[in-house]
Amino acid sequence: MSKNKHELVEKHVGWLAVFAIIAISLGGLAEITPLLFQRQMSEPVKDLRPYTALELEGRDIYIREGCVGCHSQMIRPFRHETERYGHYSVAGEHVWEFPFLWGSKRTGPDLARVGGRYSDEWHYVHLMNPRAVVPESNMPAFPWLAENVLDGRLTERKLRTFRTLGVPYTDEDIAGAAEAVIGHTEMEALIAYLQSLGTALR
Ligand code: HEC
Repeated sequence: MSKNKHELVEKHVGWLAVFAIIAISLGGLAEITPLLFQRQMSEPVKDLRPYTALELEGRDIYIREGCVGCHSQMIRPFRHETERYGHYSVAGEHVWEFPFLWGSKRTGPDLARVGGRYSDEWHYVHLMNPRAVVPESNMPAFPWLAENVLDGRLTERKLRTFRTLGVPYTDEDIAGAAEAVIGHTEMEALIAYLQSLGTALR
């Protein structure tokens, strides 16, 4: 064997693999372990509140319609993002999101802080026909949302499920959940959800 001990790993792929795995594991542990103990990762921001029953139904419609395929909800901490969208997103805003909807594709703008940016009427017109307010838009129209009416059949169970995951819904929230959504259109629920986005931190 030569004096250069490094030749051992350079010439033996088995040893190379073993040492590579050891190096990557240690690096991974050093990066991931601190995150598990940082309270910042699991503690809600001060003004965070759970979604109302109607907003939660709206969130499910957002998932069903695939809005996440074109819209992110994650403002990165860069000047060109914060100038346009507002304060960058922080972990504490998303601790009660199951699943999170950060997305990874921006065909349209980021929606993490769209809450309060437009009126409910604007959203209604936009979702019925995006071209009516933004002539060059290639966003699809979602007119059926204005016709579909919520029956509240699963709302209570949805809140209950979120509670088991740590969202602080009270017994009253859960008891009144179905009643709070019955008779509302999917459009109203989705708009309520959009208007809540990003409002816990400005
Ligand atoms: C095929 C891609 C696509 C899909 C799917 C899509 N959008 Fe969009 N969206 C866009 C584009 C492009 C724009 C920018 C032009 C405009 O405002 O219409 C936009 C704009 C928006 C805006 C205005 C944002 C701002 O800050 O001006 C909102 C709100 C919005 N979309 C909500 C939704 C919702 C809710 C859904 C699902 C029901 C959805 N979008 C589905 C492409 C999409």
